[in-house]
Amino acid sequence: MVKSTSAYDVSSFAANANVEIERLNAQVDLFWPSEGDLLEKIGLSNTMRLLDCGCGPGRLLEHIKTRFPNSHCEGVEIDSMLVKVANQKLSDLMLDVNVREGSAESFCDENASFDFIIMRLVLEHLPDPHKAITNLVKHLRPHGKLIVISNDFEYHLRTYPEVPELTPLYAAYCEARRNDGGNPCIGREVPQHLINAGLSLATVTVELAHNGLIGDQPFLKSEGSGIPAQLVASGYLDNAVLEPLTRNWLKMLQTPGHSISRQLWIAVGEKPSDWREISASKTSTEDTYKQSLSEHFDENESATGKVFKFIKHHLKLEDLKETDSLSAFGVDSMTAISLQDSIKLLTGTEVPLQQLLGDTPIQIILNTIERDSLQKTEQSANSTPKSPDTTEWDEGEL
Ligand SMILES: C[S@@+](CC[C@H](N)C(=O)[O-])C[C@H]1O[C@@H](n2cnc3c(N)ncnc32)[C@H](O)[C@@H]1O
Repeated sequence: MVKSTSAYDVSSFAANANVEIERLNAQVDLFWPSEGDLLEKIGLSNTMRLLDCGCGPGRLLEHIKTRFPNSHCEGVEIDSMLVKVANQKLSDLMLDVNVREGSAESFCDENASFDFIIMRLVLEHLPDPHKAITNLVKHLRPHGKLIVISNDFEYHLRTYPEVPELTPLYAAYCEARRNDGGNPCIGREVPQHLINAGLSLATVTVELAHNGLIGDQPFLKSEGSGIPAQLVASGYLDNAVLEPLTRNWLKMLQTPGHSISRQLWIAVGEKPSDWREISASKTSTEDTYKQSLSEHFDENESATGKVFKFIKHHLKLEDLKETDSLSAFGVDSMTAISLQDSIKLLTGTEVPLQQLLGDTPIQIILNTIERDSLQKTEQSANSTPKSPDTTEWDEGEL
């Protein structure tokens, strides 16, 4: 059995596992028409090799293998019960697809090299998304694509007429997932995760399911009441919300011209041919940036010397003089913020934004940094305990 590294557990996610499996299948069906088109648009075709990681009961594999019968499709899934369910279903349908038990973080098959790896509604449940992505990327061939489909619960299901209780419902859901170690709003962050794993970003898009195109039924099946009931049972959602939620949902459905829409975020990263493995350890973006900044400077250079050099380099203004002000070169607020952050990383001084945006000569900015650095040195000297050989006691002894 593979050790669980997930905030998702099919047996406790909704009222029971069978209800949850039905919900997962309906959720795949809800988006399949547009997801299938998107996969084709970004290059999936027959003869290609595809891995669905965290494939659950295997519905997406079912759709893909049916649409691309000559493709080679595999699944990997952490939950042994779901592995059985998926393999049984795929074999009942006589589809030549195998699902193996394993996790995104530790999946390892030296002989496997895929054209496409999909992670659908998985990353938001993982405590360390970077680890999972960097591991999967190793199994992509050069120019292979990693497709990550995620929720972002601030852009989730919306209706007309509005069902106000959806707001506390999603807030309760998000709190529960975060407490489990997941990130229910990861959708917007995925593109950066792909870049951090050394991929080049090929597509970022939002897919929308709308009842105008597919009717109400797929929404009813994929939303279900299992999750709200479970949130009430586990104390995240006030029971008093459940009744008006159900009534207002019904009222919405009975309103002529009502609308239900739901979004998913899709980000696709492509593995460059010169891809180099990036450590899966959690180095913060700040540490990496700090290191790359310090590589540019001589260790013995003064803080202000480094900053002046950095400003010239950052603005690509090699002729910049200390008497110049940055506003004369059209420094905008984004550049000013990035300068402020970089200067702080280099020197520990937060230069006021007003100096970076206004008519202040660079010399004054450098003076600010020098003064701050002197102050800090004095403060630390004053707070350092006196060494024993300068104490009165020592002098008395002498
Ligand atoms: C919300 S379900 C989505 C299932 C399927 N991808 C879909 O779109 O219907 C999340 C799935 O990811 C699986 N999972 C969770 N953590 C995993 C991990 N670390 N490695 C592989 N699968 C994982 C869960 O067991 C579950 O089947």
